[in-house]
Amino acid sequence: MFQSSTRDIPATCSIPKHVAIIMDGNGRWAQKRHLPRLTGHLKGVDAVRSCVRSCVERGIEYLTLFAFSSENWRRPKEEVSYLMRLFNLALEREVARMQENNIRLRVVGDLSAFDEVLQQKIIKAQKFTELNTALTLTVAANYGGRWDILQAVRKIIVEHPAIHPQELTEQLLTSYMVMANYPEPDLFIRTGGEQRISNFLLWQLAYTELYFTDTPWPDFGPRQLDEAIKSYQQRERRFGRTSAQLAPESATGELP
Ligand code: IPE
Ligand code: IPE
Ligand code: MG
Repeated sequence: MFQSSTRDIPATCSIPKHVAIIMDGNGRWAQKRHLPRLTGHLKGVDAVRSCVRSCVERGIEYLTLFAFSSENWRRPKEEVSYLMRLFNLALEREVARMQENNIRLRVVGDLSAFDEVLQQKIIKAQKFTELNTALTLTVAANYGGRWDILQAVRKIIVEHPAIHPQELTEQLLTSYMVMANYPEPDLFIRTGGEQRISNFLLWQLAYTELYFTDTPWPDFGPRQLDEAIKSYQQRERRFGRTSAQLAPESATGELP
């Protein structure tokens, strides 16, 4: 039988272990207030800080935030350079706070596109916080789901040039993706009203519960996070099985 890598059934009526968020709607939040789009991004950083705190308080172990997609380079030059400046500043200012709060920071994506100073700051911040255990905060920057799959395949070809097609399994491919050792996201949230994935975690979202809200990212606070978690807790995660198979009385052993 085909062995799917998605076999375990995590408990649903609990706090999600891994939450992945597309933080969207900064620009429209600002424009609605007749402010420059950049102000929306600045407010977005405050929302990140609040969201990280809320996740720690709720016992969420992994928070993955989409900060800059591989397609966002298409934006006006000034907006891209402002976002890079904000990223630089946030790294400088927030790392000490992360350390205090036992938060491990990881940045995933094609980091080679960033300037040398930013790359060094990322490496330093990751190293500084690598032993922390309360929350793994992963920032996806110059990330694309297609890029992630492709970089994994390329690495496999380099490291196993003579691999037999049957040896290329879901497990092997997963182990080369940038979030190899994480549990797959339980809950995906997209703020800002759009209902699409925009090349975020294409491989990892296969069985994630999806939640879309019109709230723009700068307005996304603890109350909105709790609403998303509540919606998640009402879902039945079947992973291909029937509802009856999940009922406790039918659980006579390991699930198929
Ligand atoms: C998300 O907000 C932030 C980034 C993509 C960096 P947007 O800037 O996409 O905001 P909208 O969608 O234009 O409102
Ligand atoms: C997705 O938002 C990327 C991030 C939030 C970083 P976009 O605003 O770039 O997505 P599209 O263009 O509306 O699909
Ligand atoms: Mg957007």
